[in-house]
Amino acid sequence: MSKVFVIDHPLVQHKLTLMRQKDCGTKDFRQLLSEISMLMAYEVTRELPLEEIEIETPITKCKSKIISGKKLGIVPILRAGLGMVDGWLALVPTAKVGHIGLYRDPETHLPVEYYCKLPMDVAERDLIVVDPMLATGGSSVAAIDFIKKRGYKSITLMCLVGCPEGIQAVQQAHPDVNIYIAAIDEKLNENKYIVPGLGDAGDRLFGTK
Ligand code: PRP
Ligand code: URA
Repeated sequence: MSKVFVIDHPLVQHKLTLMRQKDCGTKDFRQLLSEISMLMAYEVTRELPLEEIEIETPITKCKSKIISGKKLGIVPILRAGLGMVDGWLALVPTAKVGHIGLYRDPETHLPVEYYCKLPMDVAERDLIVVDPMLATGGSSVAAIDFIKKRGYKSITLMCLVGCPEGIQAVQQAHPDVNIYIAAIDEKLNENKYIVPGLGDAGDRLFGTK
């Protein structure tokens, strides 16, 4: 079974509270999502493997650690996942960025794919799928399905706000995918929105409502 890590760092929780409030405008929402993503990326990368290399300081030669192992790819689920990319690239500027376009059909609430472009070097990348909202889990499960079909094996999911139903859906469909999240809210409402949540993340991020 995959692991779920709740990032309860005070800065993350404080900024998330600001984002949740309905009078938080697009500019602040965007900035806060980017800042939280960077703070969460710091936690997600905590277990990256290190190796020692020989270097020369101005004083002497010594051994020092650098990150080893596979490179990273960041895969935002469009649209709202786009707001989490900058925070990652601030910390890992060499990461490649793939995109998966999915929207929830307003009637069925099921994900519909409209775009998929991923880095080509499958064997060399660990992928981090990013999306602020994990509601029914349909979008994240479908995105990870697409990514696995293209040969990727090492995948992590990073979301901002989720609920038990979404987490269970991902764990059932993809037990090998660990989930990093800032908050697990109470439930879904009749329109499959997270309660209390923060509303429609894509619309709040891009000012489309
Ligand atoms: C939102 C959100 C997730 C999805 C979560 O996207 O960004 O991708 O819903 O819901 P789920 O877990 O029930 O699938 P939306 O479909 O509204 O598209 P958008 O980002 O383009 O607004
Ligand atoms: N998508 C969102 O943007 N918010 C929710 O609460 C659920 C799905």
